Amino acid sequence: MMKKILTPQAVETLLGWYRANRRDLPWRHTSDPYHIWLSEIMLQQTRVEAVKPYYARFLETCPTVESLAALPEEKLLKLWEGLGYYSRARNLQKAARTVVEQYGGKMPASFEELRRLCGIGDYTAGAIASIAFGIRVPAVDGNVLRVLARLQGSHDDITQQATKNAWREALAEVVPEAAGDFTQSLIELGATVCVPNGEAKCAVCPLASVCAAAKEHLTDEIPVRASKKPRRIEQRTVLLIRDGDRTALRKRPPTGLLAGLFELPNVLGHLDEDALPAYIRSIGFEPLKIERLDDAKHIFSHIEWHMIAYDVRITPEFDGFHGTSGMLLVQNDDLHANYAIPSAFAAYKKYL
Ligand code: ADE
Ligand code: SF4
Repeated sequence: MMKKILTPQAVETLLGWYRANRRDLPWRHTSDPYHIWLSEIMLQQTRVEAVKPYYARFLETCPTVESLAALPEEKLLKLWEGLGYYSRARNLQKAARTVVEQYGGKMPASFEELRRLCGIGDYTAGAIASIAFGIRVPAVDGNVLRVLARLQGSHDDITQQATKNAWREALAEVVPEAAGDFTQSLIELGATVCVPNGEAKCAVCPLASVCAAAKEHLTDEIPVRASKKPRRIEQRTVLLIRDGDRTALRKRPPTGLLAGLFELPNVLGHLDEDALPAYIRSIGFEPLKIERLDDAKHIFSHIEWHMIAYDVRITPEFDGFHGTSGMLLVQNDDLHANYAIPSAFAAYKKYL
């Protein structure tokens, strides 16, 4: 049989370290499974400091699973505005509706049932099950993979599903009674001590004496991740099309990047100033004055947008809805209060 990845003694050491050193985070003051679920979804791909205000505001608006299930979609997206990866919010609401319909509004206390909910994968199901319900199951996210790979001195590629499964199975063997603290201790060690990019603080790590990477000076080369393919670069021209204090918005298609969100009109390619009036007329507006704005860049997971932009003043329109081009002219205060505009446009939203 393979040697266990952590001895019972190492597990106790880690738990002791966690209890003495854990950061005081809002979701560590609750055992409400819904709150823990929300925090885990928000924390995917998002820094702890960025999540804090969103978490508080979200729970003020939606203190219960029922209130989330009943929230209109535009309000939901507005609450999520700026956090990115909006499918997380939509999946969360879909799952909340399932919890209301199938479980009477109470999160199921089982890994398998949690795992079946929309947007909940192996990691999130393990995190909720262990942290909220004390169920002895592992939760392996990027932080935990890094810690485990370094402890074992493993050069296996942590982006491979087979590698993740192997670590999850190995970790399942050693989850103690205090399952929630154990899950969080590994996450916390990865986030604060066993940090990425050659910065691991082995000198203050509670597991240094049992760590292969520390012993063999491998923290710079472990974890191994297969090199990702480079992001695709897209040139875009963003347009602030304005009539008095109204600005044109457009709803994105229901699938793909930033699905279903409102955006500032934009086109592929960098249009020069001479080409603009024809384009503006083709979407049904009459340009009065065109001014170039600063360039901006936005990085998504797979794409980079390199944006140029123009401020386009148009002749006043009578109507807010521009049927032919699907544009909506929205009062700027309404836009700020009620429309979730993706962060990709942050550099231009500030002009409104
Ligand atoms: N990242 C993912 N889950 C977390 C948690 N519970 N606390 C801090 N960071 C996390
Ligand atoms: Fe990570 Fe260093 Fe601790 Fe090993 S000793 S787990 S490499 S911080």
